Amino acid sequence: MGQIAIAGISGYTGQRVLPHLGADARLLLRPSTAKKWQDPRVVSVDLLDESALEKALAGCETIVCLVGTTKAQFAPARDGEHAVNYDTVDIGIPSALARAGKRAGCKRFVLLSSFGIEKSPGAYPAAKRKAEAAVRESGLDWVILRPSFIVGPGRAAARALDVLWAPVKLFARGMADDYRSIDVETLARAVVRAAQSPQWDGRVLEGRDLHAIAAG
Ligand SMILES: NC(=O)c1ccc[n+]([C@@H]2O[C@H](COP(=O)([O-])OP(=O)(O)OC[C@H]3O[C@@H](n4cnc5c(N)ncnc54)[C@H](OP(=O)(O)O)[C@@H]3O)[C@@H](O)[C@H]2O)c1
Repeated sequence: MGQIAIAGISGYTGQRVLPHLGADARLLLRPSTAKKWQDPRVVSVDLLDESALEKALAGCETIVCLVGTTKAQFAPARDGEHAVNYDTVDIGIPSALARAGKRAGCKRFVLLSSFGIEKSPGAYPAAKRKAEAAVRESGLDWVILRPSFIVGPGRAAARALDVLWAPVKLFARGMADDYRSIDVETLARAVVRAAQSPQWDGRVLEGRDLHAIAAG
């Protein structure tokens, strides 16, 4: 298996992916976050600077992007950091990683996207669609993961919605698995498996697939 470079490792999902990564993984973090980490695998890099990314990605086979933001985190540019919004983070970072990765000779891209974005209105689904398009058009092999709500310690509220899908489960288990929440540990295992094997390349993986892959 080739070397993995991963962005978003400091996030809720990323923290559960971290223990599965090898000593040669490259953890791409923006400078303000990187300086708080002691891990020798950390690469401090502006995740929108394509020439810096090209250098950071050289020699890696697979890029994994777990980066994303929410409206509550939107912020103007300050202290040498870019503005935080869907354009810069949810679209800009995966697009920059994919373009730079292609130029750097990487082979594959694993993108953590979101369930239901194809038909939903609003800025967040639109941003995720653009990110997916950028990755598909990059010339890299790709696999897109679309979980529904990610739940786990400190983030359990969305589990309450799962009762809505219980009746659906009786006659369409796969569909219920697409809609219901996914535990972050399950998702992390699916992310790692997709990063380590080209088996699912060219596929968009939703809840039913993610549960199956994690159970592996
Ligand atoms: N939460 C859900 O229920 C859910 C459901 C479906 C899909 N998703 C998607 O799944 C992905 C991961 O979700 P999550 O809840 O694990 O995310 P999270 O905890 O919010 O973590 C976000 C990650 O993105 C990085 N990031 C954010 N803004 C950045 C910036 N301006 N520059 C560099 N890095 C930046 C963060 O790094 P810093 O530490 O540097 O901020 C962090 O590592 C996201 O794309 C999200 O849209 C989430």
